[in-house]
Amino acid sequence: MTAKETAASPWPTDLSAYCFEVPHSEDSLLFTSAKGVRLTAADGRGYLDAMSGVFVTCFGYDCGPIAQAVQQQLHTLPFNPPLHGANQAALDLAQALVDLAPDGITAAKLVNGGSESVEAAIRLARLYHRSHGNPDKVKVLSHYHGYHGATFGSLSLTGRPDVSRFGPGLPGVVHVWPPDCLEEFWGVEADRSAALAAEMIERTIEAEGPDSVAALVIEPVIHLRGMAIPSADYLGRLREICDRHNVLLVFDEIVTGFGRTGHPFAAQAFGVTPDLMCVGKGISGGYAPLAAVLIGEHVAAVLGDADGPRSFAPSHTYAANPLASAAGLAAVTLFNDGDYLTKVRNLSQYIEPRLRRLVDGRGTLRAIGLLYGAKLTGPDGGTGQGPIGERVARACLKRGLILRGQDDWITLAPAFVTTEAEADETLRILGEALDEVCGAAR
Ligand SMILES: Cc1ncc(COP(=O)(O)O)c(C=O)c1O
Repeated sequence: MTAKETAASPWPTDLSAYCFEVPHSEDSLLFTSAKGVRLTAADGRGYLDAMSGVFVTCFGYDCGPIAQAVQQQLHTLPFNPPLHGANQAALDLAQALVDLAPDGITAAKLVNGGSESVEAAIRLARLYHRSHGNPDKVKVLSHYHGYHGATFGSLSLTGRPDVSRFGPGLPGVVHVWPPDCLEEFWGVEADRSAALAAEMIERTIEAEGPDSVAALVIEPVIHLRGMAIPSADYLGRLREICDRHNVLLVFDEIVTGFGRTGHPFAAQAFGVTPDLMCVGKGISGGYAPLAAVLIGEHVAAVLGDADGPRSFAPSHTYAANPLASAAGLAAVTLFNDGDYLTKVRNLSQYIEPRLRRLVDGRGTLRAIGLLYGAKLTGPDGGTGQGPIGERVARACLKRGLILRGQDDWITLAPAFVTTEAEADETLRILGEALDEVCGAAR
């Protein structure tokens, strides 16, 4: 114990001396170890993680094959300067990711995290248009309420009101409303909302001037809207609109990618191939910081030699890092060899009807693969205890279950290795929390 720690609390008392990722309170957890889908905190309490550590640890916290691959790489080639050369793990991972992606995606650029991959997608879109003699095509459209990251460009695309405190974002970013918002604000029905939202995007492109618009970047499923899953034809409509106006369609699949939806990527789930795909989170299983931009053949074709005007450089010191690539390669190999698509679908078939029964009468469930969002109804404003989603998440945490709750929604994203018994435990605790916060099911 350091001088700054007290006997009662594992936390240092002088918090200002430390750097915290999350706001600190007396309820903050200090995790010390993890196994399977469970985390242990310094006070000895165990937590069942129904979020895969925010869509990341899909193979659990003690995945031998991935840990071993990283360890082996650590002893062989822990780092190479990307400026001077490549490494085999990165090359193999790029190929493995391309193989998982829909036809037409032929290259991958490996980076360190989701935000970086969104930044890279913006740069690639601009480079693509410049290389085709359209240097003025620089604007980027994205959905209100989509989340795209924490670096400046990706934060600018993030169309959430709570990011406005950082001041003006990247010039040329234009936000458009997703179908889910039209449904909520005006009670527009799902099919109609897809057509209307798509038409509004086309009108926005026309109003901004198609000669100025480079890309439309969207999450296929908007997770910070409580998993807003679009109707089947919405993404297809966006594809047509982008083609009509020579605008690149970019799917941010950082949440929906790598098997989460029961398909390799949401692109395959919805049958729509974007020009660029941002992938991250689960692709290393959480064993190293890793993300990628998967690149359509026509976009990859504009990339020139290292120093030329069509080069992607400057890149990142840790881009295509051998350790992260070894983790990613082991994760993709496990995903393929272990037939995890079937496992995701089976587990999803087990959880979905049970979860639906639990939520029924207290909200509506949105579900695709192992991605769940529940929009809750119940006592909210006036309780002084925050939005209903947050309260349900807190009630779960108190009982040792981690899920996400914000506004009027909660989300769950169980690990692919979750057993039926662990799923039952998750549902039981969630049921108790819903009873406490929303009242018994009607
Ligand atoms: C859809 C989406 N895009 C981008 C990001 C940013 O990824 P990272 O936090 O790895 O930078 C996230 C992270 O939550 C995300 O959910």
